Amino acid sequence: MLQTSESAQTERDATVALRAIEPADASECARIVYEAFGAIHDQHRFERDFPTLAAAQQLTAAFSAHPSIWGVVAEHDGRIVGSNFVDERGPMRGLGPITVDPGAQGLGVGRRLMQAALERSRAAAGIRLLQDSFNVGSLSLYASLGFEVKEPAAVMSGRPNSQPAAGIEVRPLEEPDFRACEQLCLKVHGFERTSELRDALHVPALSPFVAIRDGRITAYATTLTFFPAAYAVAEAEHDMRALMLGALATVDRPASFLLPMRQTGLFGWCLDEGLRVVKPMTYMAIGEYREPSGAWIPSVLY
Ligand SMILES: CC(C)(COP(=O)(O)OP(=O)(O)OC[C@H]1O[C@@H](n2cnc3c(N)ncnc32)[C@H](O)[C@@H]1OP(=O)(O)O)[C@@H](O)C(=O)NCCC(=O)NCCS
Repeated sequence: MLQTSESAQTERDATVALRAIEPADASECARIVYEAFGAIHDQHRFERDFPTLAAAQQLTAAFSAHPSIWGVVAEHDGRIVGSNFVDERGPMRGLGPITVDPGAQGLGVGRRLMQAALERSRAAAGIRLLQDSFNVGSLSLYASLGFEVKEPAAVMSGRPNSQPAAGIEVRPLEEPDFRACEQLCLKVHGFERTSELRDALHVPALSPFVAIRDGRITAYATTLTFFPAAYAVAEAEHDMRALMLGALATVDRPASFLLPMRQTGLFGWCLDEGLRVVKPMTYMAIGEYREPSGAWIPSVLY
């Protein structure tokens, strides 16, 4: 295990080495993801993001093998003590999850993993993340590295009370929809996120939907039942509402998505519909940032 005395700092920095992740690292990284998130969520009595080791394994296996997701591990004495990922599927980078083995936390490993991700992303338009607002350690670490707080967000769960809205069609996304979705994302955010949407079409656990009003796509989502991967954009709040009601009516699972709470009308509507707040998160960013115009839901990355 890492030494903890102050005098060991220099030696520790020298003995912790960073290298690119390899698919063979996925299971050890998953153990750390499972234990590190489990510890902080249990400590604050919030639902675990990774309720099982298998859930963590699924993520680290998928991320470490993805050609457009960069991963880094920290090693001490030849043993992995932490990892971090950067989603490079679009011009805006999404950071996380970052985790350090609970026995090695508070010793500078997380800072080095973050610095590596920032160095990797220095030519990108920007880099973004969401952190658990109750995690004072990660909040401070990110802010000290230059991340600015942009939005308070809430993970929402439950089933809406209302039936699908009349006048707005909601249907599964199809290949020919990508171009219109890309234009919509550009309009709302100023950057595109199409490659991630393409991935969502081929991941069995996700189910992208579009909403169509006046003959054109006015909203889409990768999913609305798995907040880590659920991102959505809409021309207007009523398009987002219609998308939510229409998409959730087709599945048995409860809603699970992140809602930036300064969208006051949409947040109030979700609560009126019977949805519940699971936990608060903070949206942070470095680099280019434009206030979204329209309604939006970020994934756990951005
Ligand atoms: C978050 C995490 C990755 C950080 O890794 P770490 O190795 O423990 O972090 P480090 O020791 O490198 O850095 C922590 C920094 O935060 C600072 N910090 C911690 N708590 C703080 C507080 N309450 N106020 C101000 N600063 C604080 C420390 O002083 C340190 O800063 P320093 O480098 O200037 O000394 C790690 O704790 C972890 O895996 N947590 C569980 C999983 C998780 O929550 N991941 C993040 C998801 S958003």
